[in-house]
Amino acid sequence: MRTVRTVAELRALLAPGRRAGRKIGLVPTMGCFHEGHLSLVRRARRDCELVVVSLFVNPAQFGPGEDLEAYPRDEAGDAAQAEAEGVDLLFAPAVEEVYPDGFDTTIAVGGLTGVLDGDPARRGPEHFAGVATVVAKLFNIVQPARAYFGQKDAQQALVIRKLVRDLDIPVRIEIGPTVRDADGLALSSRNSYLSAEERGRALGLHRALRAAQERVALGERDAAAVLAAARAELDESGLDPEYLELRSAEDLSPVERVNGSTLLAVAARVGGARLIDNVILGGDQ
Ligand code: PAJ
Repeated sequence: MRTVRTVAELRALLAPGRRAGRKIGLVPTMGCFHEGHLSLVRRARRDCELVVVSLFVNPAQFGPGEDLEAYPRDEAGDAAQAEAEGVDLLFAPAVEEVYPDGFDTTIAVGGLTGVLDGDPARRGPEHFAGVATVVAKLFNIVQPARAYFGQKDAQQALVIRKLVRDLDIPVRIEIGPTVRDADGLALSSRNSYLSAEERGRALGLHRALRAAQERVALGERDAAAVLAAARAELDESGLDPEYLELRSAEDLSPVERVNGSTLLAVAARVGGARLIDNVILGGDQ
């Protein structure tokens, strides 16, 4: 595996494979790998002949009061894990390589980015503009046939799908299921901020989603009743969510009744960590 710092070098290294018709897969990340990241890497390795993983803590998607400086970084550990998974190229550019002097373009995906995490009272639409802009750049730099994202960040995955559709970017988007610890806590680089006590409390997020799933499995379809079941579990765990909402899993429009494609999404602050989780209700899962 090679670690590559510049766009020019990455393009040069990919060119022969691209000419030979080898399928290129891209897994965009901000590093500090866990099994969630690695599950996407393994999928890419299975599907594609050349696997590129990008590692870039993207300043453009962090708000002024957010954890850009504190965000966990471990490039050496990440490189070792990527190598063990058979990754071909690790693209780990400096901030100036991605945003050189004079860089001044932003991609704002409409429609999906003003709700949930995109609500101006929360991370805001600027967060998703930062994500869409860097992901569009990565797509142009790598020009992958397929790119891999996690359902853990459900709204992000929808934004990326819409970005690709709206701008006719020729890449197939693959969404991998949320990987959880044995106790149900969704894996996240930000879990490293949690003390043992906070980690225990954070499990309330998963319990809330499960309570809703159980209600739906028993036949409940009324949104308010399903939300009440989830809310009771959050209360029990002493968690006051930033949001707990049921929305269409396709376009994030509000729903009154749970059908086969309804997203239950939750965000809550636990100690110094802002955690999100979600589940699709009423489907086969
Ligand atoms: P990051 O948080 O590092 O996540 C990289 C990818 O891993 C994302 O697609 C995310 O959804 C996925 N992922 C994270 N935790 C997961 C879990 N527990 N199970 C399954 N997949 C999981 O998301 C980002 O980085 C950035 O916003 C990025 C897309 C790289 C743009 O900067």
